[in-house]
Amino acid sequence: MEVVCFKKYRFALKKGKIVDIDPFLNCYLCKKLKENRYLHSLSVANLMYEIALSNKLDNPLKYYICGLLHDVGKYEDEKSEFKIMKENFKEYLNLPQYAYHSFVGAYLVKNDLGIDDNDILEAIKFHTTGNANMNIISKILFAADKIDPLRNYDSSYMIKMMKENFETGFIEVVKETKIFLKNKKGNSNYLSEYMYLYYLN
Ligand SMILES: [Fe+2]
Repeated sequence: MEVVCFKKYRFALKKGKIVDIDPFLNCYLCKKLKENRYLHSLSVANLMYEIALSNKLDNPLKYYICGLLHDVGKYEDEKSEFKIMKENFKEYLNLPQYAYHSFVGAYLVKNDLGIDDNDILEAIKFHTTGNANMNIISKILFAADKIDPLRNYDSSYMIKMMKENFETGFIEVVKETKIFLKNKKGNSNYLSEYMYLYYLN
């Protein structure tokens, strides 16, 4: 058993798999998330970790932590959500409200947990909408969130693509997301449009 740390948080690894999460982080997640969302977060964390390992990326634990924490803003009450948005992310207030939890999540991860890694915060901020010119971890979180094996459709070919080459896998996920959301009313937003323009043209 190997014990590895990210910032002050400790994780136990056994044969390249996470077997033990820092108890403080785990308690925090249990307080912030409902059961299904907690399971989804664990699943996205595992998937991100596997994608990082198979693409031979540095510090795969960082990908695990990003997946684990990405939805902590999901159940913030509306009043607090608006306050955090107004005080910290004014420029994104004109996005649809469903995107707010991503920004609120980044705020909570930084302020409640003291995680100030900019790559992680950036990835959490844009995991719902995507954006143009995304960093590596942002691409992997965006994709892993959409293709989580716990979701109700067969995403196995995209998971395979992400594990073989996350850059080409990501483009495929963006294409599929665009098709999926095309006919859903109220789902368009300018950041996703930037992402489509940037990556699909
Ligand atoms: Fe998610």
